[in-house]
Amino acid sequence: MSDRELRVSKIRNGTVIDHVSGGQALNVLSILGIDGSAGLGVSVVMNVPSDRLGLKDVVKVEDRELSQSEVDVISLIAPEATINIIREFDVVEKNRVDRPETVVGLLTCPNRNCITNANEPVETKFDVVDEGVRCTYCGTIIREELAAHIDPE
Ligand code: CTP
Ligand code: ZN
Repeated sequence: MSDRELRVSKIRNGTVIDHVSGGQALNVLSILGIDGSAGLGVSVVMNVPSDRLGLKDVVKVEDRELSQSEVDVISLIAPEATINIIREFDVVEKNRVDRPETVVGLLTCPNRNCITNANEPVETKFDVVDEGVRCTYCGTIIREELAAHIDPE
């Protein structure tokens, strides 16, 4: 690396989400519920050249691991992402994301009359279909803007 390049530092502990489709990093942060207020160290690199993807984003979150439903939703907006778990500076685990069959929790149904919005103890569930994701309970399809339907809890 020459002194004309600036690269984000390695992290000691946490998760690096690499090979994110260019431009999707902020949506990854919203899937993870990260807005900076919790004080976690977060580094974001957007639209850097990648051999595989053309342009890629990278998101590094210190001292945080991801839940399976977070990884499932990330896979829908960044199908080539790799999830790297870092411990004491080493990559101890590297996983490609898989497009899931269903996504449980995390997303909210846009249909206000859906049972999942009725104060019943029903967790949201979406089936992954070609057009996007479809609510198992009411059939409403979310096509784009998945990140806008993230459950804020
Ligand atoms: N990384 C980091 N902090 C560390 C170790 C790795 O931020 N302590 C980042 C690297 O910068 C890279 C990603 O985690 O973005 C994966 O690291 P590594 O497997 O070493 O890189 P590559 O071999 O280039 O990964 P791949 O083969 O998945 O492209
Ligand atoms: Zn619904």
